[in-house]
Amino acid sequence: MGETVGEVTLGLAEQLATDLPELSPDEFAIPQAETALVCGMGGSAICGDLAVVLAAEKGYRLDVHRDYGLPGWAKKGRPLVLAVSYSGNTEETISAAKKALRLSLPIVAITSGGALGTLAEGEGIPILPVPTGREPRTAFGFILRRLVFGLAAAGIVTVGDDDFSEAVQITSEILRPGSASWNLADDLAQAIGARVGVIYASTGLTAPVAQRWKTQINENAKQAAWVSLLPELDHNEVVGWSALREITRSHLAIVSLRDHGEHEAVARRFAHTRSLLEDQVIWAGEVWSQGESALARMLSLLAIGDLVSLGLARYTGTDPEPIEQIEYLKRKLRVDGD
Ligand code: F6R
Repeated sequence: MGETVGEVTLGLAEQLATDLPELSPDEFAIPQAETALVCGMGGSAICGDLAVVLAAEKGYRLDVHRDYGLPGWAKKGRPLVLAVSYSGNTEETISAAKKALRLSLPIVAITSGGALGTLAEGEGIPILPVPTGREPRTAFGFILRRLVFGLAAAGIVTVGDDDFSEAVQITSEILRPGSASWNLADDLAQAIGARVGVIYASTGLTAPVAQRWKTQINENAKQAAWVSLLPELDHNEVVGWSALREITRSHLAIVSLRDHGEHEAVARRFAHTRSLLEDQVIWAGEVWSQGESALARMLSLLAIGDLVSLGLARYTGTDPEPIEQIEYLKRKLRVDGD
């Protein structure tokens, strides 16, 4: 029997540490680019969201496209297109890759095979291969490593070996059973319990991590969750916490994702927003990033979120593995599309 989703999820640090000796930049015709577009969905696309933060650090523009085709600006903007689909069979991503081919844009595919792999082989598109045989969301470390490699070859991001080493060291400690962070994640899972998790973060470094928390809670624990970002949520969402107080007080729990590098005004907003909302929910708490580099800070919070999603599944007796609704829709749309 293969490893469970839970076991593979705990292998994040090993995935990040995997050497890519076969992926020397010289062997790949990845052109230098001024701008890039990651095309993908779900567990594949989320790596793009983290890469946006890394590109911004270097002053480069990277967007993530979660849709069919390509955004209107791609024709004139001529980005490097990174088509990322773990399975290689996600129709939105294949549609994006085909559109990029029609526009003669430079493309790189990150996949374990499938139709995207076949398309890339047939069209001579460079492929950064991902190991096969797992759920896309559990291949996060493999995909991120390849995405960063591709973007670094194009000159869009720079992540030094030290940054990777730091991220590997911090995440492997967090994911070590019995570590302080492991216990913290357990406490967080217990506090959220069988309720809706509201993940608060701030625009920038913690935003993509909050999205990963949400999707991991959705898919592993089969629970509803939502993400809102500061400072925006202070301009609308805070008003929406009053009329349904009886429901929010018993069914919602807020977790704030905090980063030592966050804007000082955002830090003040976290404090005031929390005092405003604290008695509107059953529980409100926060968790802080660890490490120095942007990569390590993001991945430290992300690893704790992965643990929280598995902890929630444990508490509610839910099997993290099946994602029947996603598979149903993929099957249904394939049939309808014939
Ligand atoms: C499944 C998961 C999904 C998939 C998404 C796209 O574990 O996380 O969100 O990632 O349906 O599929 P891929 O990644 O194969 O393109």
